[in-house]
Amino acid sequence: MDKQVLRLRERLERAGETKEAATLERLRAAARDTQELAPSRVEMSRGQIVGEQLDLGVNPPIDRETGARLCSIEFPSRNGRAPVYPAGVSETVEGLLREWISEVALQAVGVEPTRSLLIYGPPGSGKTITAHYIAARLGLPLVTARIDGLISSFLGTTARNIANLFDFANRYACVLLLDEFDALAKLRDDPQEIGEIKRVVNTLLQNLDLRRSFGITIAITNHDRLLDPAVWRRFETHLQLGEPDEEARESLIARFLLPIEAPNSTLRVFSYCLAGRTGADIERVCTSAKRTLALSGETHDGPGLFHALSSVLARTPRHDHAPARILATDQEAFVSLIANDGTFSLKQTEIGEATGYGQSRVSDLKKAKRHLPLLEASHAQ
Ligand SMILES: Nc1ncnc2c1ncn2[C@@H]1O[C@H](COP(=O)(O)OP(=O)(O)OP(=O)(O)O)[C@@H](O)[C@H]1O
Ligand SMILES: [Mg+2]
Repeated sequence: MDKQVLRLRERLERAGETKEAATLERLRAAARDTQELAPSRVEMSRGQIVGEQLDLGVNPPIDRETGARLCSIEFPSRNGRAPVYPAGVSETVEGLLREWISEVALQAVGVEPTRSLLIYGPPGSGKTITAHYIAARLGLPLVTARIDGLISSFLGTTARNIANLFDFANRYACVLLLDEFDALAKLRDDPQEIGEIKRVVNTLLQNLDLRRSFGITIAITNHDRLLDPAVWRRFETHLQLGEPDEEARESLIARFLLPIEAPNSTLRVFSYCLAGRTGADIERVCTSAKRTLALSGETHDGPGLFHALSSVLARTPRHDHAPARILATDQEAFVSLIANDGTFSLKQTEIGEATGYGQSRVSDLKKAKRHLPLLEASHAQ
């Protein structure tokens, strides 16, 4: 069998089909490497990820004492939409995907694709969906470990659980996701757990090192500073997610307001009020605005959405961001604010379109500077 594959590879090479030939060669290597596991089911996947095919019938490993599952297995849909990122972040994610998808080009210069990625950032910044998106783009299943799940078992079994989890992930072609990775760091605060944590961290480091020759590992944390530096170093690429910039915010708002097709001026108004919020926050506000609009009986246009946004913000108890606070309190003052704010760069007609105020009313409000008392009140606080 191996000889036939070899002949086929040689024929492909002669025909100039170098990519196909390289894939076949990797298949042969994969078959050799994994012969001990299950020679009949070895498959090749993306980015030199070798291993058996993980399908629905495969049971995840369990904690021997409690019977709890050590991970979940998902098959992310390839049709899902890409998360929305600021420019620098998209480049990093797309760059990694290119490495994994076109590893033949990397092989030509003797390097391997990046195998490990650490994603960090505040809650709701899109870390978990990014891992799902990467797995979907690579066409690989996602094996997700909840580190706190691994740890919450009996003392002494954590290290064994981690080893079992990695054995499982290394056996199959998959992306291993270590979500909520900082749970490990939290253990360190507990003086009772010192011996245990050392053992756990060591097991983890050993397993992360071994995993390099198998597949892709993604770890996620909210608290990057809590992570052990030795763990931090194990990851070749660090991806920081945060609050979206203005362009990303507008894309997110347009996405989350669908099926309502909001005009650009409305996207600008929403974006202005939601500066500094994470993707998850923006999704929540947009969903609430759609609910409010649907029940209000108003038309599904700029002014309808503007009133809905104002009510949603009014129902939220506290706003650090002045525009959100002003729209929550007084819509005319808000119109005056955006008409006077040079950074907001919408024409008076567009402000009219977004808010439902006629152009002459916008002009009057601008002159009256209705927003000033509210701004001053908030400064005085
Ligand atoms: N950059 C983004 N692009 C698209 N949607 C986003 C983005 N950021 C957040 N979201 C929305 O917010 C929701 C939460 O995102 P996700 O679960 O990935 O956040 P997280 O960073 O993992 O948060 P946590 O730290 O709380 O686990 C997603 O389902 C998605 O709808
Ligand atoms: Mg998450």
